[in-house]
Amino acid sequence: MNSNKQNYTVITGASSGIGYATAKAFAQRGSNLVLVARRQEELQALKQQILGQHSSLDIIIKATDLSLPENVYELYADVRNLPLQTWINNAGFGNYASVSQQNIAKIGRLLQLNVEALTILSSLFVRDFQNIAQTQLINVSSCGGYTIVPNAVTYCASKFYVSAFTEGLAWELQQSGAPMRAKVLAPAATQTEFGKIANDVSEYDYRKSFTNYHTSAQVANFLLQLYDSDQVVGLVNREDFSFHLGKPLFPYAGQSKHNQKN
Ligand SMILES: NC(=O)c1ccc[n+]([C@@H]2O[C@H](COP(=O)([O-])OP(=O)(O)OC[C@H]3O[C@@H](n4cnc5c(N)ncnc54)[C@H](OP(=O)(O)O)[C@@H]3O)[C@@H](O)[C@H]2O)c1
Repeated sequence: MNSNKQNYTVITGASSGIGYATAKAFAQRGSNLVLVARRQEELQALKQQILGQHSSLDIIIKATDLSLPENVYELYADVRNLPLQTWINNAGFGNYASVSQQNIAKIGRLLQLNVEALTILSSLFVRDFQNIAQTQLINVSSCGGYTIVPNAVTYCASKFYVSAFTEGLAWELQQSGAPMRAKVLAPAATQTEFGKIANDVSEYDYRKSFTNYHTSAQVANFLLQLYDSDQVVGLVNREDFSFHLGKPLFPYAGQSKHNQKN
């Protein structure tokens, strides 16, 4: 990470789970932060905790609902003049239900957050910052963004979108010679508030529901490994929970003679 104290990392979904742990990890490395989520109090508590250990950092809080496109554009307009170095689209949620039984209103919000907000924020960040050295966009997908998990089809499809979009963007940046890097983090089960929200319950016990899972701090460490590497994908193997850095996984038609001619 560039040690220039002027640089900022934006983390969406920083009020709990993976985003919360990632905020602490980037603060530990000396990055100023923009912390985004709906719950102002949780963001404020995290800010105070970080400043208690790293008093020289600038920690900006943005309490906003990113499932509404107007808030997404407003967030970007508010921060675009900062010297942004890293943007982490982590805010997202899941849903456990069959397609025939799923709550369609909840699915609408899921698609707006997991897909639409991530696409708008990625596009605007790339447009403005792609030619700035050492910039990175990290989009949080899931190993369910590479494998279809039963009873989580729509969530997985939203994460397949995140993986494919980010891999495609990584190819695009690489081929245009832009210095920005785009990367996909794909965690497996992680003990966060995800389980409660995906199952619409007030309590959720990861020990009962999974044979194995990571903590948020472990996943934040994976994200840092991805950040530090030249690879595009950081994927947790959902069978043995090992973490792997590697190349894009989707087929890419970069060299095909059947592509549209420019
Ligand atoms: N936990 C897992 O097993 C797992 C596995 C693979 C991938 N992931 C992915 O990891 C990412 C982080 O999830 P997590 O596991 O850390 O879950 P989490 O603890 O529920 O955190 C989700 C974060 O997103 C924020 N958020 C939710 N809806 C939002 C909205 N409409 N606008 C703005 N922020 C919103 C939440 O804050 P507020 O409620 O304050 O808005 C929270 O900070 C997600 O993209 C998830 O799909 C999770």
